[in-house]
Amino acid sequence: MSGPELGRLIDEVDRTVDVQFAAVGDVDELNRLYASLLGRRGSLNALMKQLPGAAPAERKLLGQRLNAVKGRVERAREEATARIKRTARERELSAPPLDITLPGRWRAPGRPHPIMRTLDEIVDIFVGLGFDVAEGPQIELARYNFDLLGFPADHPAMDMHDTFYIAGDPGQNVLLRTHTSPVQVREMLSHPPPVMIVAPGVVYRRDDDASHSPMFVQIEGLVVDRDVSLADLKGLLEVYSRRMFGEDTKTRFRPSYFPFTEPSAELDVSCLVCYGENRACPQCKGTGWLEVLGCGMVHPTVLRNVGIDPEVYTGLAFGIGVDRTANMKFAVDDIRSFYENDVRFLGSL
Ligand code: PHE
Repeated sequence: MSGPELGRLIDEVDRTVDVQFAAVGDVDELNRLYASLLGRRGSLNALMKQLPGAAPAERKLLGQRLNAVKGRVERAREEATARIKRTARERELSAPPLDITLPGRWRAPGRPHPIMRTLDEIVDIFVGLGFDVAEGPQIELARYNFDLLGFPADHPAMDMHDTFYIAGDPGQNVLLRTHTSPVQVREMLSHPPPVMIVAPGVVYRRDDDASHSPMFVQIEGLVVDRDVSLADLKGLLEVYSRRMFGEDTKTRFRPSYFPFTEPSAELDVSCLVCYGENRACPQCKGTGWLEVLGCGMVHPTVLRNVGIDPEVYTGLAFGIGVDRTANMKFAVDDIRSFYENDVRFLGSL
């Protein structure tokens, strides 16, 4: 390459150095530009290699000019580095400041469902009286849910209208339990007396109105021992009612019928909402009484069905409607609102 030609190329680089460095926006761009000029394959290095081709008289001057351009590149790089740092710092300083005095964001903590709170309270009362807690499956055998409990084969509770059977079981041997009473059977089959348990759990029936939900919660109670009497049943449930609903709660046993107890009764407690003083009370419908549970003495046939001698042992049993109890404690009109999962409603209880 001739001297003048080389000189022209050097000038061209020289003229563009400042503009090019002024245009880079960040460190990466800057490094790339620098390497394109002074890197191993940089354009200035390439020109350097052309020097020997120039006439000896021109060589010295061309070398000096090349060095001057190199110096200019180094300076431009330093300036660009400083500029990039400065801009970054300015951007940091002009960002909106972190306000540590802003109040935190409120996140409502969850808490147990009112029915579960009610259930816990009931369990606590019975555990305090010496009961153990037992559990059984929600998908149950018809044998435990009905047969061994002495339901006659044509009992209306077994009707399709009341019971959810498990699909694909034409014999209808497997179902969603309709009450917690099958846990009585399981307990007596697996433990010799004395037995003293409560069994909380979810049960299912094909019912759906203001006082019936197709899924609800019960807690079963069972005591089997020598000399368990109706007096024990009444005393126990009176103690329970007073602890659950308050010391001045009155109780009333009404004769009733269950296939697995004899005699059978239903227990009413005095209305917590109106104390019998409001003829139009939405809770007790003006009767002054609220039905809270079914109970009775374990039927001798049931004891025999599970291999316990009814001449030696007797038992008492009860089944508390937990939803109803919660209904009453929280004075809720429609039992189904417990299951609608509206946190405005649930949070208000
Ligand atoms: N299982 C009965 C029901 O669901 C309640 C009950 C339990 C009655 C135990 C007597 C004894 O209606």
